[in-house]
Amino acid sequence: MTSTKRYTITAALPYTNGPVHIGHLAGVYVPADIYTRYLRLKKQDVIYICGSDEHGVPITLRAKKEGVTPQQIVDKYHTIIKQSFQDFGISFDNYSRTSAQIHHETASDFFKKLYDEGKFLEETSEQLYDADANQFLADRFVVGTCPKCGNEESYGDQCESCGTSHNATDLINPKSAITGNVPSLKKTKHWYLPLDKYESWLREWIVEGHEKDWKPNVLGQVKSWLDDGLRPRAVTRDLDWGIPVPVKGAEGKVLYVWFDAPIGYISSTKEWAAREGKDWEPYWKDKDTNLIHFIGKDNIVFHAIIFPSMLKAEGSYIVPKNVPANEFLNLEGNKISTSKNWAVWLHEYLQDFPDKQDVLRYVLTANAPESKDNDFTWKEFQARNNNELVAIFGNFINRVTVLTHKYYDGVVPEKAKHFKELDQINDFKNSIAKSIESYRFREASQVLMNLARMGNVFLQEQEPWKKIKENPEEVKGIMFVAIQIAAALAHLAQPFLPFTAQKLRNILNIEALNWDEVHLSNTESLVLGGHKINASELLFEKIEDEAIQLQLDKLEATKTQNKQDNKAVEPQKDTVTFDDFVGMDMRIGTILEAEKVAKTKKLLKLKVDVGIDTRTVVSGIAESFSPEDIIGQQVCVLVNLAPRKIRGIESQGMILMTDTKDGKLSFLSPTSKNIKNGEQVS
Ligand code: MF3
Ligand code: ZN
Repeated sequence: MTSTKRYTITAALPYTNGPVHIGHLAGVYVPADIYTRYLRLKKQDVIYICGSDEHGVPITLRAKKEGVTPQQIVDKYHTIIKQSFQDFGISFDNYSRTSAQIHHETASDFFKKLYDEGKFLEETSEQLYDADANQFLADRFVVGTCPKCGNEESYGDQCESCGTSHNATDLINPKSAITGNVPSLKKTKHWYLPLDKYESWLREWIVEGHEKDWKPNVLGQVKSWLDDGLRPRAVTRDLDWGIPVPVKGAEGKVLYVWFDAPIGYISSTKEWAAREGKDWEPYWKDKDTNLIHFIGKDNIVFHAIIFPSMLKAEGSYIVPKNVPANEFLNLEGNKISTSKNWAVWLHEYLQDFPDKQDVLRYVLTANAPESKDNDFTWKEFQARNNNELVAIFGNFINRVTVLTHKYYDGVVPEKAKHFKELDQINDFKNSIAKSIESYRFREASQVLMNLARMGNVFLQEQEPWKKIKENPEEVKGIMFVAIQIAAALAHLAQPFLPFTAQKLRNILNIEALNWDEVHLSNTESLVLGGHKINASELLFEKIEDEAIQLQLDKLEATKTQNKQDNKAVEPQKDTVTFDDFVGMDMRIGTILEAEKVAKTKKLLKLKVDVGIDTRTVVSGIAESFSPEDIIGQQVCVLVNLAPRKIRGIESQGMILMTDTKDGKLSFLSPTSKNIKNGEQVS
């Protein structure tokens, strides 16, 4: 890699239905970030592109669950996710979102072009339908048995167990994820991308063209799909959340999320180019551009088969050079799960371990699920921090800087002798580069750590602290070499540990170098004699057992919570008799007056017209409502509750409210406007 090449690096657009966790970081964003930072240091023309995937059923489902709109969901999580990436030094050139105008246009135009050129099949067929929910059941709206592997919880479009992508009607024993109903069939029209037509081209391009450079886990999946035979795939859906299908006769239909989301890489590039005053097209259309998709294994079919077929059908785009997909990261022996809250959320990690972004980056890289699923354990996290970052890397730097201050007041001595370690620095650098270029980031991180190890061994063997009395000249030569190793660590750690690299450059008082400038020879050094370094500072600190125990306790509490939630079908209060129930006189009333009860936070004193009379009710709702906002509000009142004195005021009834877990109260009010005060609730 000597000449400048263009790289378009993409990282899978995360679904905006929850925050991001360590699995995301380990599988996609950290490896892609290391790769991109390395290429930037190599002075390549590289952009790192991402954004939020804001359409699709997971978002609609989350919105239904939280009782808010899909837009509210994506706004909330887009902000949280974007912040987490920034906090962890994930250095995107652009982070967009698929609800952006530019994306809607780009995806619409893409579809329109394929449509106009007759690249789709148009077909009316019977699709799964949930009559109660008034909803077609595509994708995650339906669950059933995978026709390929027998997993009973496969989604309509994809089985997460074996990775197969299929049509919803292929599922055995399908059930609606909304109501649990067995779906019926209903006719509807959709547009299909005839993947079968691209099969031989795909085979030639991937199997024959990339047998050597694509990862075995990716090639394996691709071959298995091709061998099974590809079939046309619907690229539209009967949903109301997504990008409207831009053709006549498609009212009420949207683009399939997996059609629009990968186009998000292109829209995000356009957004970047517009901001930077650049041309986006060479990054997507010049055949010399290296397009690289970093993804997790569940995304392989979409990035290696479907999206390339779309790009090929469109005709003016390049296809990816590589699709380095990772396997999954588990957490303490169990599958990471957003819905079960079995995860280490990045924003929560930072609350517990502020300024330890690089520790997590390092641990996730050293233990990345590159060729098989891996397990993240807090014990290993602690061990890698204490035994590697602190005891090897940090310890070496600390010895070097402390001794340089002690012996020379922080001024680097002149080179006195050529040690073999100086040449070895070049070898370490080349070895790291080679590993990164072949997407072996774990290996690369270990070579980096071995360089620090070499530094420690060198000091241990040379024992400058013993020689300083009798042989101060020799010690100068030793310390010069140790300082070169420290500087090399600062430069070579940059892709992996960007925060630490910066801190180390500050301590050594050196500027960042390009990758190729990190080179030593008889005449070249990284830090010259006479250079003054800054005060030494610890790079890493030991993580104590207590901090780890806290994290383990948190996970234990999650387990307990999950168990409780499964049992939640048992009511929490004792059974009441029918007579008890009909003995309650509940009526509709209207709030006429409201004022705060002095010296209380929660209480409002209300005058309520309940039809039969107007009475005083004291209600604990002041934290949710201000008095002026609820005057005129129709409410439901239990009117035959025995009167009680609250803060000296006699309360003559109770307003019925709903109380959500986060403490938000709502009135139970009739939705019809014609209900008069005094009408009974039964
Ligand atoms: N949102 C998808 C996921 O989290 C990934 C989308 S990648 C893209 O699995 F290519 F569609 F953008
Ligand atoms: Zn399966």
